[in-house]
Parts: sequence; structure tokens; C-alpha cells
Amino acid sequence: MKPGKQFWSGIAPKYAAKPIGDEAAYVATLERIRAHLPCGARVLEIGCGTGGTALRLAGEAGEIVATDFAGGMIAEARKRQGAHNVRFLVADVHDARLEPGTFDVVLALNVVHLMEDATEVHRRVHDLLKEGGSYISKTPCIGEPDLGWKFNLMRKALPLLQWLGKAPFVRFLKTADMDAEIGSSGFRIVETGSYPVRPPSHLIVARKV
Ligand SMILES: C[S@@+](CC[C@H](N)C(=O)[O-])C[C@H]1O[C@@H](n2cnc3c(N)ncnc32)[C@H](O)[C@@H]1O
Repeated sequence: MKPGKQFWSGIAPKYAAKPIGDEAAYVATLERIRAHLPCGARVLEIGCGTGGTALRLAGEAGEIVATDFAGGMIAEARKRQGAHNVRFLVADVHDARLEPGTFDVVLALNVVHLMEDATEVHRRVHDLLKEGGSYISKTPCIGEPDLGWKFNLMRKALPLLQWLGKAPFVRFLKTADMDAEIGSSGFRIVETGSYPVRPPSHLIVARKV
């Protein structure tokens, strides 16, 4: 198993038990996502973790295919399963079971900063969306300056933690990096916002053009 998958599968039970860190920011994020979900939408979520967001959005969507490359995360998600229109799959975005041009909305929440091949992922998301479909991402941008000593310390300690297998691959992005990545992958950005503002967890709603 690739180290990233192994790391995330290993922490899945703890991740499932962890309460939401910032409830107000999460509620605001869900509200922005709902505002861009067309009636009966076919939704793909990538990096769904233990499935909480997919299950919360199930009432507003036609169908949600919620995917994660870590089997442990999907095993936890299946324990919570409670919606007839949510299907959990162990898959990354390149999985051949995902058919191009078949999704109205693709969600990528708290995952793009963990991807080494983000540019390829954005391109694949573009292929998977129907014409005019929406790509909604929310990404912690911990490469912004002046986030305080905790982030500086974390950045310094990360290589050692990664070497020990105690931390995953992480990109230290700025919000402008995310706008540029998505804006140059065949999308038109229609909305941005940060929930929370600091450290910025940057929401981008982008339309396939
Ligand atoms: C920080 S968790 C976020 C989970 C969920 N989206 C949330 O907001 O709570 C990151 C998740 O992304 C998954 N992940 C990381 N890299 C991935 C990739 N390249 N493809 C699919 N899933 C990935 C991990 O297994 C993990 O479940």
C-alpha cells in the first residue's frame, strides 16, 4: 500500500471519533455548497474521509458517489451509512469506474493540499464533470504568512514526522496558489471565501468552461 493510503487508513477510527473542529466554519461551508447544488444533482466527492459531509448533503442531492483512496476511511464511512442515495467507494479520482461527463458537482474538501499530483487531479475533475458542472474545493492554505508560531513549528517538524510515518504529504499553499491552479485547469471561478478566515480554509466554486 502507498504510504499516504496507509497513513490515512491507520488514523481512520480516530478521525471518525473526532468532533468537528470549527462548527461555525463547517456550517458556513455546507451552506455555500448547498447554494451550488442543482436539484437532483449527481455529485462526486473525492477524499470523503469518514463520509460525514456526503451524508449531510444526501437530502439535497440526487446521488452522491463518495470516494476516498484509503480503505480504512471508507470502512468507517460504511459504518455510518444511513442514506439510500450515497455510495461509498474506495477509489481515487482516476478510478475507471468514474465515467467522464457524468457529474454535476465534484467536491474536494480538505484534500487538495494533500495531493502531489493536484494539477492532474483538477484536469481529471474537469473530464468527469458535465458541461457547466461545478468543482467545489475547500483547502487549508497553511502557506500564508504570519500564521503564528504553531504553524512555523509544524512546518519545521513535518519532515521528521513524515519520515517516521506520523504525518502525510502536505503542501503549504497560499490562497492565490489555489485560485491559480484551478483557474488554469479549464475552470472559471465563480465564488471564493475562507471558512474559517484564519488560518484560511479556502473555498473555491469553479464552473467547467
Ligand atoms: C483531512 S482528510 C479530509 C476528509 C474529509 N474530506 C473532511 O473534510 O473531513 C483527507 C482525506 O483525503 C484522503 N486522500 C488524501 N489524498 C487522496 C487522494 N490523492 N485521493 C483520494 N483521497 C485522498 C485521505 O484518505 C483522507 O480521508
